[in-house]
Amino acid sequence: AISLHRTIASFRSVRRAIERTTKIGFVPTMGALHEGHLTLVRQARAENDVVVASIFVNPTQFGPNEDFEKYPRQLQIDSDKLAALGVDYLFAPSVNDMYGKDHVTYVDPEGFDDTSEGKSRPGHFRGVATIVTKLFNIVQPTNAYFGQKDAAQCVLIRRIVDDLNMDVNVIVADTVRESDGLAMSSRNTYLTPTERRAAPIVYQSLCAARTLVLASESAVESAVVRETVESVLRSEPLISEIQYVSIDNKSTMQSLEQVNREDGALISLACKLGSVRLIDNIII
Ligand code: PAJ
Repeated sequence: AISLHRTIASFRSVRRAIERTTKIGFVPTMGALHEGHLTLVRQARAENDVVVASIFVNPTQFGPNEDFEKYPRQLQIDSDKLAALGVDYLFAPSVNDMYGKDHVTYVDPEGFDDTSEGKSRPGHFRGVATIVTKLFNIVQPTNAYFGQKDAAQCVLIRRIVDDLNMDVNVIVADTVRESDGLAMSSRNTYLTPTERRAAPIVYQSLCAARTLVLASESAVESAVVRETVESVLRSEPLISEIQYVSIDNKSTMQSLEQVNREDGALISLACKLGSVRLIDNIII
């Protein structure tokens, strides 16, 4: 059976009993679990002795006009899904427990507010860096699992682990998609049925960019790649806003002037479908 802990103190007491020689796999989440999360859990289960998942909707990574209040919360359903996959511990603390009234310390990753995703969500990565550091300190995992769906987040986590000398292996798993290509996300539940039918256009726009690059013998200007993505997105009237289309180096996230088949690129985007913000990316 899964062992549920709603406070830091109760999780710490069981954590203390786990010996250092035991491999601990950790999957941090905000809940409303779907196949994307569960794929990370399965990999963690296969590679570790003990598996810990966390569910915490982290207020510090949401902007003032974002969906913190309405973010889906369904602890019992999520707990049952995790139990069925053999997760040993579920850590689901309260906001007050994680951020007490005297909390003043943040992990501030310089430069991340200048990335495309950071520009459209100022302060977001400071919130993510802070909560992931706190969770790593509480759980003390051997291996921690993240999804490529959040490409900049993966680069960020590798950075903080390296910069702060954390003794954690970061493992990144591929984006899990619906059969029509839509990247799975807890926020997909906000889509109306009509919007949901239009949503595959997001991944299609990235595939069009990949096809363009792979078909070209010489380097393609990033502006041309970007225009390809944007023109596919603009063909869908329900796309109400294109927040960014970013063409970056795969490992450094530095923006690229040109893309060639040999070096590849990370193409990432954020757009609004109706009022729902969707992100996706593709690696060439
Ligand atoms: P959340 O959005 O719940 O995602 C938890 C983990 O699942 C992240 O590593 C995310 O990249 C991964 N994930 C989400 N959708 C996926 C998909 N379709 N395919 C593969 N992996 C997917 O990301 C967060 O929570 C938070 O920022 C967190 C790291 C928990 C810090 O609060």
